[in-house]
Amino acid sequence: MKKHIVVLSGAGMSAESGLKTFRDSNGLWEGHDVMSVASPEGFAKNPALVLDFYNQRRRQLLEVEPNQAHLNLAQLENDFKVSIITQNVDDLHERAGSTNVIHLHGELLKSRNVETDAVIYDCKTDICLDDKDPNGIQLRPHIVWFGEAVPLIDKALDICQTADILIIIGTSLQVYPAASLMHYVPEHIPKFYIDNNPAPTHDASIKVIAERASIGVSKVIKELLK
Ligand code: APR
Repeated sequence: MKKHIVVLSGAGMSAESGLKTFRDSNGLWEGHDVMSVASPEGFAKNPALVLDFYNQRRRQLLEVEPNQAHLNLAQLENDFKVSIITQNVDDLHERAGSTNVIHLHGELLKSRNVETDAVIYDCKTDICLDDKDPNGIQLRPHIVWFGEAVPLIDKALDICQTADILIIIGTSLQVYPAASLMHYVPEHIPKFYIDNNPAPTHDASIKVIAERASIGVSKVIKELLK
């Protein structure tokens, strides 16, 4: 029976692919205040600005590639059951070959209408004002904005409870409920936190590896395969 590795990844996972993190760019997202481009209030106030913000990030995502950390995690599936719970909205884990990925904060390459996330559409192009779904309702990015529910959090909690190994990669652990997931894994399993500027975890059982993701992931894999 393969051991179950649970990975909790954040923006630092994709930094080496060229995608900006959120809190490394002094709190501005591509020059925008986060609440003006990632909240229902911001969308209501200026939908065109919000749609354009995500259009720019979607176009950039289609120009970048998974990095060595994504690729190494995908390879882990040869020897382990691997569940990736990511805060990232990019598809780089999937493009690297990981087959079991859940996106807590939504997906940049998906859309939904402004009334419900019951129906999700693939979306590789811009979303503009007056782009509507088949029911004639305005489309929006399938992103969980600040203040909105995190539909996959219960599924993520269930996954964490069955972890044999936990690897946290490239997250400042500041956004909840995602940041609480690490407390739901079994107490005595091996836990690693890879981050080039790690946040305090207040948990001495977590082995902190202060490296960038590509270096840290390969170090952890060497230890796991010993
Ligand atoms: N390798 C490893 N870690 C890195 C690298 C790297 N190359 N570059 C940056 N980091 C680390 C930073 O030190 C930081 O701890 O990645 C983390 C990025 O933190 P944030 O920018 O806060 O991103 P994240 O934790 O994913 O944010 C969580 O907040 O803004 C919302 O919804 C958004 O999903 C996002 C959530």
